[in-house]
Amino acid sequence: MIRGKGAWRTRFGFYVVAIGSACGLGNLWRFPYVLGENGGGAFVLLYVLIAFVLGAPLLIGELILGKSTRQAVIPATKELERKSSLPLRWAGRLAVLMSVVVLSYYSVIAGWVIHFIVQFALGLFSTKESIADGLSVLMGSGGLQWALTSVHLLIVLIVVGKGVQEGLERWISSIMPLFAILVCVLVYRSLSLPSTPDVLRFLFYPDFSKLTLQSLIHAVGHVLFTLSVGFGTMVTFGSYMREEDHAPTAGFRVAVVDTVVSLGVGLLVFPIAFQASNTPLTDPGLLFEVLPKFLLEIPGGVIFGLVFFVSLYLAALNASIGLFEA
Ligand code: PFF
Repeated sequence: MIRGKGAWRTRFGFYVVAIGSACGLGNLWRFPYVLGENGGGAFVLLYVLIAFVLGAPLLIGELILGKSTRQAVIPATKELERKSSLPLRWAGRLAVLMSVVVLSYYSVIAGWVIHFIVQFALGLFSTKESIADGLSVLMGSGGLQWALTSVHLLIVLIVVGKGVQEGLERWISSIMPLFAILVCVLVYRSLSLPSTPDVLRFLFYPDFSKLTLQSLIHAVGHVLFTLSVGFGTMVTFGSYMREEDHAPTAGFRVAVVDTVVSLGVGLLVFPIAFQASNTPLTDPGLLFEVLPKFLLEIPGGVIFGLVFFVSLYLAALNASIGLFEA
């Protein structure tokens, strides 16, 4: 990691890693279909509200816990238990357990990304039908998903085992600006589609009758997942913060960037999904179906697809390493 003796060498080092952990499959793959399931605009408002009323304060709390104890989550919560006489060590253990559960599910989706990289690299995605076929083969084959998940976990193990995270993080921080530019170009293209007015109404016109108790549960769950809160990783990142760094400002900025990225992804995915009127907005395959098909319509789409899915994989790998280390 970009740290000196027990501390981030620069403030930038903290942001690269914390934002790298927060922005991942949660923003690009999970957010669009959770939003689709919960009916759009009103859910966006609820999500942003919970991100700043609950998510950001918890994120800041984790950073402060790490910064003040200079420990990872289990020893940090033990120390807190000694001081407060509340049974807080269980919170630390639960966070680690949650990391294991989430890593196992995250790895399945990272495996899907590997499948897409291979398909684009081998030129097998050349028509919309080939993408639909590739996706249905993947969804229909437990064995293939099992193998891809194992490949991902093996890559995580190799990176962690060889201790090459520093190199990986440097690589990721140089490739992410490219990824951000690519996403911006795609958002621009996507927003030029005729479906855009309907999408803007869907995303930003709140119809509160669509909200249910389930929406609230989804919003809280998604906020914790996307901000990487409750897993102990932010405690670890806080433990490497320099004395002069201000944890509340840092935590707030991470929450802002993560939320802006998710909303940007909404503006990328939904115009394309609305355009292809037969695409269900609630499908977990949303990102994997609408985006590749759209890419084939633009010049150099296969290269765009390859770069997009390689960058997405690096983001997923970075987040998986954070979870694995916790
Ligand atoms: N926040 C990540 C995402 O949105 O993809 C997922 C994640 C990474 C959760 C690391 C928890 C964590 F510790």
